[in-house]
Amino acid sequence: MTQTAALDDLVAASGQVLSARHADVGTSRETARRGRFVKLAVLVWVLAGLAWWRVLAKDPAAAFLPLPSIDPFLLTIIVFFGLLLALTVGQQVLSGRSPHVVYRPEQIDVSLDQVVGIDGVKDDVVRSLNLFLAHRVFSTEMGGTPRRGLLFEGAPGTGKTHLARAMAKEAGVPFLFVSATSFQSMWYGATAKKIRAYFKALRKAARKEGGAIGFMEEIDAIAMSRGGVSTAMAPAAAPMTALSPMTSCCGPLATPATGSAGGGTVTTPFMSEGTGGVVNELLVQMQSFDALTGWQRLGGWFVDRANLLLPPDRQLSRPSLLPSNVLLIAATNRADSLDPALLRPGRFDRRLTFELPSKSGRRALVDHFLARKAHEAELDDDERRDALAAITQGYSPVMIEHLLDEALVSAVRGGRSAMTWKDVEQARLVEEVGTGAPVEYTAHERVLIATHEAGHATAAWLTAPQRRLEILTIIKRRGALGLLAHGDREDVFTRSRTELRALVQIALAGQCAEEVFFGDVSTGPGGDLLYATNCAAEMVGAHGMDSTLISYLAVQNSSFSDTNIVGRVLGDPRGRDQVEAVLQELKTAVRALVVENRHLVEALRDALLEREELIGTEITDVLEQAAARGPRPAVIDLTQPGVAAATDAPA
Ligand SMILES: Nc1ncnc2c1ncn2[C@@H]1O[C@H](COP(=O)(O)OP(=O)(O)O)[C@@H](O)[C@H]1O
Ligand SMILES: [Mg+2]
Repeated sequence: MTQTAALDDLVAASGQVLSARHADVGTSRETARRGRFVKLAVLVWVLAGLAWWRVLAKDPAAAFLPLPSIDPFLLTIIVFFGLLLALTVGQQVLSGRSPHVVYRPEQIDVSLDQVVGIDGVKDDVVRSLNLFLAHRVFSTEMGGTPRRGLLFEGAPGTGKTHLARAMAKEAGVPFLFVSATSFQSMWYGATAKKIRAYFKALRKAARKEGGAIGFMEEIDAIAMSRGGVSTAMAPAAAPMTALSPMTSCCGPLATPATGSAGGGTVTTPFMSEGTGGVVNELLVQMQSFDALTGWQRLGGWFVDRANLLLPPDRQLSRPSLLPSNVLLIAATNRADSLDPALLRPGRFDRRLTFELPSKSGRRALVDHFLARKAHEAELDDDERRDALAAITQGYSPVMIEHLLDEALVSAVRGGRSAMTWKDVEQARLVEEVGTGAPVEYTAHERVLIATHEAGHATAAWLTAPQRRLEILTIIKRRGALGLLAHGDREDVFTRSRTELRALVQIALAGQCAEEVFFGDVSTGPGGDLLYATNCAAEMVGAHGMDSTLISYLAVQNSSFSDTNIVGRVLGDPRGRDQVEAVLQELKTAVRALVVENRHLVEALRDALLEREELIGTEITDVLEQAAARGPRPAVIDLTQPGVAAATDAPA
């Protein structure tokens, strides 16, 4: 194959992994194989020649070399000290051995087809793999520098290890897996030694087989930022503000989480002994792929000696430097805390972020996992599968897999051999909120909780038509007495002011319903207020949605910059007043809404008291029917003490 044809192959291979046998890697391996064959042939010829010479010398039975005779006493002493020496040296050598495991393609059962739902990353990986396989074409014909390091970063369970394994299968070269924690050692200096040994093994494998891929799992274990190194080089993580897609009531679930991060100087107050040294070793080794081998260095030594004796125009040339074709991949879920020097081009120059899968990605994952999990025909329905993809927003691939496994468990518990939609719903509830605890509420508490939850659901239905009501229950789960789960219909990345106000209103509606129906409030809404406060504080202090445009995230180095956004806003008297005003205003509005639509709240409350748990369309069915019937004609003032209990007791 000519080089130009190889270049054509590289350029044309979109989304397909090049065949390792025909790419540069295969050519190098073939050259190495021939070299080994020649060496073996020479050895065999030398031995055969020696034997033939013996035959000619008429002494065929004699050994090649006569053995000296040794006194057995002396031998014992020599063996004893020899063993002692071997033990001491052996311990040293073993403690500095590389802890990696080599995988051959045929030992791995994951192929690239089995990596689904993360197409963007997969394409990028295939491209890097092709550049690696056709490295010579890329560097000689196109003048490019091949990629040396890939950094896989992403939340746990997003498929980093999974994809690396699939690469190992497709690449057709040895894959040296190592977990960064296994470099750690109790011996001083042994960690650096192990790292050196690992890179040496990589280079050796690459020379032997034309290329090698190294995979370092959880690299943050050894590559944490050294103190005082500026992170300005590394792209600073944007401040993330994630409003969770699912909100619940009376529980600890899903409060808006805000973290702030930025550039600046990382100063780690505590540095374990030698951390800096380990990172430095890693930095040095990442540049070591162009190093000379032992034989080349020996050859160079002789050439240098000879050159000292030779005139300038007769100087011999030193052995040329042959870079080893190595690709190093590292995975971490804490890329921000890695040493910035590692992330500069030439080391881990490509950062691949494994995001949580999008809706279409989740659909592909659902199809992938359901292909081998027993399920009823209803789950083959396209609409159902889309719904499943929709309700798993924010799930990583491994969480989706786990959800379906839980659904299977639920099916087995129900005496069935295949999962149904109901099992999936049940599993999701268990996953996200916990298993239901059989608690006997008092009759009054039961009505109170049902009214409270019905208040949430009614407000959600009225104020946030873009949200999907998922589960409404009064069964106690983990910290929550009752619960309304509602989520976005589509994957969304931004939220409007109206939506955030609706979320706060939904959270406050439980307390309003208690007030409207019982004229009193209970401790139940504690969790709701937590959620509402967080949400309102973000609106005021981070998103400029109220009367101030100041972002409290910008505050650094002040008395309250070490807390989260809520702490910063509430720590400022003006911010606190604004948050309070937002909450009061929204509460007044939602209270009016509950009073106006009390017939809806009542209908849901009664349905809850009867069935305890309403799922998906069951909630909206009740609401729609009640809305169609319209409000009850008679208006009784239930806020009068005594009347409420009489009217609201379950019939
Ligand atoms: N894209 C994917 N396609 C199919 N299965 C996946 C995918 N991502 C993750 N998984 C499943 O999740 C499991 C855990 O993923 P893993 O790669 O170990 O996550 P991590 O990112 O933490 O290394 C895998 O063994 C695999 O079964
Ligand atoms: Mg992993």
